[in-house]
Amino acid sequence: MALRQLEIGLVFALGITVAAVRDDLNRGLFQGGQCNEEASESLRLTFHDAIGISSSLTASGQWGGGGADGSIVIFADVETAFEANNGIDEIINEQEPYLLRSNMSVADFVQFAGAVGTANCPGAPRLSVYIGRKDATQASPNWLTPEPSYTVDTILNRFMDAGNITADEVVYLLASHSIAFQSKIDPTVPYTPLDSTPNVFDTQFYVETQLTGITWAGNTSVLGESMSPIPGEFRLQSDYAFARDPRTACEWQSMVDNQTKMQQMFAAAYTKMSLLGQNVDDLIDCSEVITSLTSNTVLPAFLPAGKTAEDIDQACPDTAYPSLTVQPGPAISIPPIQTA
Ligand code: HEM
Repeated sequence: MALRQLEIGLVFALGITVAAVRDDLNRGLFQGGQCNEEASESLRLTFHDAIGISSSLTASGQWGGGGADGSIVIFADVETAFEANNGIDEIINEQEPYLLRSNMSVADFVQFAGAVGTANCPGAPRLSVYIGRKDATQASPNWLTPEPSYTVDTILNRFMDAGNITADEVVYLLASHSIAFQSKIDPTVPYTPLDSTPNVFDTQFYVETQLTGITWAGNTSVLGESMSPIPGEFRLQSDYAFARDPRTACEWQSMVDNQTKMQQMFAAAYTKMSLLGQNVDDLIDCSEVITSLTSNTVLPAFLPAGKTAEDIDQACPDTAYPSLTVQPGPAISIPPIQTA
């Protein structure tokens, strides 16, 4: 009984500490609890740390990486030089002062900051937070993070090899691209959003990736890009392919205008991803400290102004495409984002 009380006390004390780190992040990095650029970048960082693990490398007797072990920060000199991690050094540097005063392991902090930032985006689910990960002692091997020019086959195999993450779960994880920008795939058009509502965690990303592409985001095409349906929007080739591949197209379509499903499925798949290489039984669940400062309701999904049902490249043979209202007004284009 006394031991149980001590345990409860410890968890309580840890909860207070972790809440203080949350508040520090929200006051500073996330500029008063906003769904800002740093929130998106922090979510991307969780993925680039966690995916650095390979069961096939381990099985062949090589170092297979430690997954969500903070290696991307601890061995930043090695890992930020990986091609797929282009630009990730910016958020590592911005997070550094918060990490240093957090008292958390680096591995915990990376996943924690991603969960806190994401909670600031309207429509986002509350992500689980586990504390107690052991930090990396070695860098991740190279070539474990998927790139947008990779085929669906290669990407699905990579996720399976990382930790039995299924095709459906990859579809769910890509909800993260609803709050995403690209800057490094085509550096001539930095901060180009991947959907028309990049500050809202909504299903609009799944709608817009299904529309016929009409234009390149910059003056020419670049490796890893597919034509986007809206001027000023960027489409990753891998997102284009996932929306149309027979293995993923129906699950992709099922996310359209289904905010509740997207939230639940993303949260579950994210928990699995954030625990890659870790044993959940050794960790403490601190999820209650993730509080949302913003509204959880979002507008229904829509067809962007100027589009009709004819513009949908429907790829799921089983189910009719959901009927969506068309945004009123002339055909939209997304103006360049002004950054500080
Ligand atoms: C299927 C594999 C994936 C590929 C090929 C991919 C690729 C990319 C690329 C190329 C960018 C743009 C980076 C830049 O130019 O600045 C990006 C952005 C982003 N990705 Fe992914 N991604 C994948 C999966 C994921 C997953 C699983 C997550 C998180 C759970 C994620 C979260 C993000 C976020 C939040 C951004 C926006 C970062 C920002 O706005 O600065 N991605 N992704």
